[in-house]
Amino acid sequence: MTHTLPGRRFTRRVKRGGFTLAAACVLLSACAPPVCARQESALPHLRRQGTATQLVVDGRPFLVRGGELGNSSSSSLEYMRGVWPKLAAMKLNTVVMPVYWELIEPAEGKFDFELFDGLIRDARRNGLRLVPLWFASWKNSMSCYAPAWVKTDQRRFPRAEDAAGRGMEILSPFNEENVKADARAFAALMRHVREVDGREHTVIMVQVENEIGMIPDSRDRSAAADKLFNGPVPQELISYLEKNKETLQPELRAAWGAAGWKTRGSWEEVFGRGPATDELFMAWHFARYTNRVTEAGKAELNLPMYVNAALIRPGYQPGQYPSAGPLPHLLDVWRAAAPQVDFLAPDIYFPNFVEWARRYQVSGNPLFIPEVQLGPLNAVQALYVFGRHDAIGFSPFSIESAEGQPRDLLTAGYDLVEQLTPLILEHQGKGEMAGLLPETSEPQRVPQRLRLGGYWLNVTYERPSSTPAAQANPGAATPAQANDAPTGGLVVAVGPDEFVIAGTGLVITFDADSPGAPQVGILSAQEGKYVDGRWQPGRWLNGDQTHQGRHIRLPSGRFDIQRVKLYRYR
Ligand code: DGJ
Repeated sequence: MTHTLPGRRFTRRVKRGGFTLAAACVLLSACAPPVCARQESALPHLRRQGTATQLVVDGRPFLVRGGELGNSSSSSLEYMRGVWPKLAAMKLNTVVMPVYWELIEPAEGKFDFELFDGLIRDARRNGLRLVPLWFASWKNSMSCYAPAWVKTDQRRFPRAEDAAGRGMEILSPFNEENVKADARAFAALMRHVREVDGREHTVIMVQVENEIGMIPDSRDRSAAADKLFNGPVPQELISYLEKNKETLQPELRAAWGAAGWKTRGSWEEVFGRGPATDELFMAWHFARYTNRVTEAGKAELNLPMYVNAALIRPGYQPGQYPSAGPLPHLLDVWRAAAPQVDFLAPDIYFPNFVEWARRYQVSGNPLFIPEVQLGPLNAVQALYVFGRHDAIGFSPFSIESAEGQPRDLLTAGYDLVEQLTPLILEHQGKGEMAGLLPETSEPQRVPQRLRLGGYWLNVTYERPSSTPAAQANPGAATPAQANDAPTGGLVVAVGPDEFVIAGTGLVITFDADSPGAPQVGILSAQEGKYVDGRWQPGRWLNGDQTHQGRHIRLPSGRFDIQRVKLYRYR
């Protein structure tokens, strides 16, 4: 399915009418309240479908086939000129893109949106949507994108301090001037987005700050921080804990319980002593601050807004990893402190991708992956999160640097996602889809078993030279590079006894999981494509390609879609 940007139509209308876009924007901002209300309702927003959260853009749910730019790319229109068409050719529909506080507000109160406007214009020209990243008070724990007038005025804009009273290059979340300056700039940005993009919705969602975290100490040791740390835990947090006691994330529940379920007291009295409590304390204050920034932005333009986290290296303690960010074990603290933030998102750079994806689709938090390590697995990871986790979107980091095999694989994977988008969106949140991905890189000894649509699916990930499936199916040519090719995909139960299976390197057999005749046969398997949401059948695969009805196989080294019908016999 191709998403056409209504903005293109709008631009044409504007030109025919002899208006400039700026003139249209003036009209827009001066509109009477009922018109504004209509525009507001048409803004990108989140909605529930069953257990899923969907991002709705221009009245229709939207799957983000994204990629995040490297940190410096969006600071130059010239640099980006060749990048946009490359990303569009890779079948992205959305670019996740830094916007830098220091370039937006080089002098206090003086805003410069020329670069930003150029980026919006060029994204539109290439049919791409944008998710701006607000690189402001914090970027990977540090405050490197704060404007010079902030960085050089430590008295007015204080830093977090270590135990020796030395400042770190981390703006303190305990200071009113800091949060006011950031919130003012973010509000100006969102006001500007409303003015230049209020109707076109090139900007569909916004990330507030980037990988907030405390490192190398587990907390700010300044006098302002100490005072709050030794004071009472805020009543809002206590009330949240009491109200949500049974569904709290296990680490928080355990810490609160171990300290005696207290409903008043200092942070150490309520949660115990140690770096884990330092982290809870910092998380609360980072989240309060971020909530103020988010609220100021939403007051100008109410787009979905989220925060992202650097994840924890196994065995590391708070202070050793960027702690107190929007991590899964801190979800409740972030939620209680930052109700304006719509969801928390992981940046996945560790090999246990499946585990981290699972940990973020909890307690109503939808999965959106703004950053994942760029590499050959991206295509199957994307299919997996859309099938398994009803993900809003997926976005490898440094996308413009994708070349060769990772680029081609991602393009092929995103092509499948694009074809399947209407089907995926229709089935989200209803328990009618599954994602397929090996849990580890170790060779698989037993098939993965998944329940779907009244059947058990036994999934083997093809290692072409070694799997019995491949040996039993010698007629199926597999390209040489398939030995190290990624394997994975998704399955949709589209009707009784019928599945759509998409991906690469999969061998699937079926067992019955509902009353009736005990044995399962393959009635038909057909490969094909979806064009504008409609199935265009290709080859009929009931011989060698299904091992004469024994299994479904999507060979490695290529990305396919098959529609499969099953039947039952005694
Ligand atoms: C995660 C950060 O969010 C990005 O901005 C970038 O610094 C990458 N790490 C680099 O791997």
